[in-house]
Amino acid sequence: MYQHIAFNQLEPHCIAEFITSRYHAQLRSLGPLLATQLSKLREENSSFRQEMTAISGLFQRLLDDLSSHMRKEEFVLFPYVKERSREQGDFVQSMPLLNSVLQQMRREHRQFTDTMSQIRRLSNNFTPSEDACSQTRLCLAVLNEFESDLLDNIYLENNILFPKLIEMEQGLSIHTQSAS
Ligand SMILES: [Fe+2]
Repeated sequence: MYQHIAFNQLEPHCIAEFITSRYHAQLRSLGPLLATQLSKLREENSSFRQEMTAISGLFQRLLDDLSSHMRKEEFVLFPYVKERSREQGDFVQSMPLLNSVLQQMRREHRQFTDTMSQIRRLSNNFTPSEDACSQTRLCLAVLNEFESDLLDNIYLENNILFPKLIEMEQGLSIHTQSAS
């Protein structure tokens, strides 16, 4: 995580842009490479074969779900955050069921976290066995990096962006009520 950036002081749309360009882009670029590599190792690695098969299956499912999750954020939620930050007035329509959308995003975050915990466990905390080949070592190191990015991304959304969005929404509803 970027300790030197005061995310709490940033506008929500800046945080959403940062998440998209830093985290989503990185997860999109690392994810498919890792999936391909894991699938190859599943075929090749004999001492770690069973675990690698399970890890490869879990990771592929996570990647599919994550891809759909990021699209929902980038095409529905984040554009709304941007519009809301820009207008800050009476003319922006509230997003219907915003709370349910955020709950759904949090639920999906929990699933990703659970899946990565399973992968971490199966891979013995991303630790290669002594006889592991260099590809396995590299793959586990990148998997560790992928998890770290994913968890930072989730932390930023759950603990900073979503609460800010709810705060902004409540501010608007108070504003609208007092204007009517
Ligand atoms: Fe998310």
